Order: sequence, then structure tokens, then C-alpha cells
Amino acid sequence: MALAKDYKSVMGRSNDIMKEALGLDYNDFESGSVAFDYEALMKATGYTLDEVAKIQARTAVGNTPLIELRNLSALARKYAKPGYGARIFAKDEAANASGSFKARRAACAVAHAKKMGYKGVIAATSGNYGAAVASQAAMQGLECIIVQECYDSRGVGQPEIVEKARKCEAYGAEVIQLTVGPELFYTFLSVLEDTGYFNASLYSPFGIAGVETLGYEIAMQCRELVGKDPDMVVCTNAGGGMITGTARGLQKAGCVNTTMVAASIDLTGLHMASDGQFNKKSCTTGHTGFGVPYATDPDHSDVPRSAARPLRYMDRYVTVKQGEVMYMTEALANLEGIERGPAGNTALAAAFSLAQELPEDAVIVISETEYTGAGKHIQPQLAFARENGIEIKFGDPVAEDNPGVNIVLPKDPSYIKAQDADINRFRKSLIKKAITKAGVSELTDADYEFLAVETKTDVDFVKKAIDELGLLK
Ligand SMILES: Cc1ncc(COP(=O)(O)O)c(C=O)c1O
Repeated sequence: MALAKDYKSVMGRSNDIMKEALGLDYNDFESGSVAFDYEALMKATGYTLDEVAKIQARTAVGNTPLIELRNLSALARKYAKPGYGARIFAKDEAANASGSFKARRAACAVAHAKKMGYKGVIAATSGNYGAAVASQAAMQGLECIIVQECYDSRGVGQPEIVEKARKCEAYGAEVIQLTVGPELFYTFLSVLEDTGYFNASLYSPFGIAGVETLGYEIAMQCRELVGKDPDMVVCTNAGGGMITGTARGLQKAGCVNTTMVAASIDLTGLHMASDGQFNKKSCTTGHTGFGVPYATDPDHSDVPRSAARPLRYMDRYVTVKQGEVMYMTEALANLEGIERGPAGNTALAAAFSLAQELPEDAVIVISETEYTGAGKHIQPQLAFARENGIEIKFGDPVAEDNPGVNIVLPKDPSYIKAQDADINRFRKSLIKKAITKAGVSELTDADYEFLAVETKTDVDFVKKAIDELGLLK
């Protein structure tokens, strides 16, 4: 009998569809309360770090160069107090097949799908991940469908998203393009059900295990190049997989003193699901519109439990402005001769500012660069912004930036200043959401421990937060 395909029926079958499409039963990791066994979920991939690296090496992924940005480091020193201004290094992830670190996630997920006998893979993404899955599917001989949230209701798409659709199609994937709104998840589930393909989710343990090799390589290359571990690693943050996988890889390499910093573009006040505001931004990832909701509620993704859990690994969360990232994109090209895309340059803009807090012999690594091209360039982005009524000017981004209204390019590099977000507020928000979602009236000892690990704090912090928020009353 044909299954009903209306919205409510498909959403109602979501757990069964997911089980089929991932070959994982998430109930195996649940405790019945707030806590779940995250490490067991990660182990369920069945692959060691070494095996993941081998899978990636077969498909032109990994072992990317670590490049010292000597001229940008020298520029940062001009604005730091004497003796300060860390050495800045970039992990050149644009060198991966498909041009971004997302190839690490895709290589692992697609190889697993193939091993399990799936005929094709599906991913819901309007970012680099679509291109990564499409490229890996082409290489590994599987069918590929990418579901994208592409346009506003006028049928107008941000140049960077349109660029990514083009790239997915170039790799031979079928691209389903949607307008912004709630139909993305429904369409995704429905296509999974109809095709029986593998859910190559960004948030599955296969994807995150794929990023661990990135952190591991950073540790090994740093030791070889400078004889020590990185003092700080800065990761552009959206759904949290980048910082989660990188930190886990660094830990596996034995880096215990590296400060992990998440960096996002500050889009405060712009609503991501709003038709009118969808095209008012000049970046499509690495912004607070994804970064904050995913950090405080990682499980609102396309799998029952996300393997990307950024607050477990973050020591600091900083924000930068759109204009600062654009300025750094040009500075990287002009001073280092390396032209790269906006996502990696979000971490770079933050690193340029953070380097000034650290002594000259400190080492700061930005975890990635990404490819650039077509819609990712500054010029089409600025032209599109202008068409959408955004004012563009030079000034002080920290004082004058207003997302959706203007883009403020820094008057000079001294105006690039990463701002610390209130990470404890995000931690409390996670605690509140986790308890509310579980619908429990008391916590077990395992729940307290779990929430302490989830927020990189301790049981005392969790208890105080619960009191302060008036939870479990
Ligand atoms: C090039 C690049 N860097 C960083 C990110 C952010 O990664 P995550 O969503 O895992 O936090 C993305 C995600 O879209 C990306 O494409």
C-alpha cells in the first residue's frame, strides 16, 4: 500500500525513516533521561582515526598543507603591544577535493554508505557540504541528491548559495532547490523514504569522525614545523561539526593545552528562516544565525542526536562582523598571495585580532581555508548587498555594524576586533533546553555529569545554573 505523503504523515514517520537511512538505532544510546552515551555513538562508526585517514587518502582528502601567514602575522604585530602578536598559521583545507574541510565529512559518510550497500546518498545542505558529498559520490560511484534551501519567495538566491548549486550539479548530483521555510526537512525525509538512499547527514558520527583527522593533522604538522602544540586553534562555527571534530582530533593527538576558539559572523537581529531577511546577509555559513542555536541545542538537526556538540569543546566563542571578514579576505590575497573563500576567513579575521593578545612566540592556527569562486567573491557579494538595499561604507565595524542594514569595512586593520560572546549564557541555555526537551522533573547523577561535560563546566556550574533558571521546581 502506498504511504501517505502529506506533511504530517511523513514527519510522523521520521524516526523510522532515519533508522533505515543511517543504519543506526539511536535508541541504543539513550538513557531515558537527559543523558545519552555520546562516546558510544561516536564509537558506533566502527572506524578508528587511522582507518578514517586511509578512507580519505583514497579520495583526495586530507593531508592538506599548514601554511604560516608571515605577512599577516607581521601586520597584527603592528597593532599589538611590544612582544605580542602570535604567529598565525592556516590549514589549507581548500586543497581537499571539492575545496573545503567538508570533504572530510563526506568521504567518511559516502564510504560507509557504499560499504553498507546503499545505492545513493542524500544531504540537506545549501553549503559546501553539498559539493563535498556530490564530489565523493562521483568518486565512489554512488548516486547523489542534494536538497537546498536556495531562494526567497521572489525566486532570488544569494550568490554564494547559487554558486554551490552549480558546483553540486557539476559533480553530477541532482539538486532539489527550495525556497526558505519549513519544507526543507519534510522534503528531505520524503526523498530519503522514496529512494532508500543513505542519509549523509552533516551531524552523523561518520561525518564528525571525518573531521577528527583535521585536528590530528594540525597537531602533527605544528609539532613538525614549530616543535610544539598550537597554543590556540580558531574554528569558524556554524553547526559545530568543525570545532567538535577538530578538538577531538587534537585530543587524540595528545594536545591538552590548546585553547579552542569558535568564531562566527555576528548576524544578531537577522532571522534565518525569514523570507524577507534571507537575502540580507553576505555570508551563508559561519554566522551566529546557525552558530548560536546549534551550540545551545545541538539536537535540532537532521538526526535524532547530533555528533556535533560544540559547547563540549569550546573555551571561547568570539564574533566578527561581515565587513571584517571581507577585509581579511582581501588582506589574505594581497599580503599572502592566497585567495580563499569567506568561511575560513571568518576564523582568520578573529585570529588576526586574537593574535594580538598572545606573545610573539605563541602559535595560533586557523583550522581551515575554503575554495573561492563565482558567488563567493567579495565583489558579487557587495553588488548583491547593494541591490538589496544594504549600505556599504568604511568605518568602525564594532561600533557601527548593523546586520541587514549595512556592511562596515574597517577603516584600517586596527579596527578588526573580535568580540567575546557570553559563553556562559549559551551554556545555561543548553542546560535549560536539554532539561525542558527531556521533560523530566529530576535529574540523575549521570544527567548532572552529562550536562557538565556538554557545557565543558562542572556539576557545580550545572546545579547553580538550574537554580538560577528556576528549573526542576
Ligand atoms: C568552509 C566551511 N567552514 C566552516 C563551516 C562551519 O562548520 P560547522 O557547520 O561544522 O560548524 C562550514 C559550514 O558550512 C564551511 O562550509
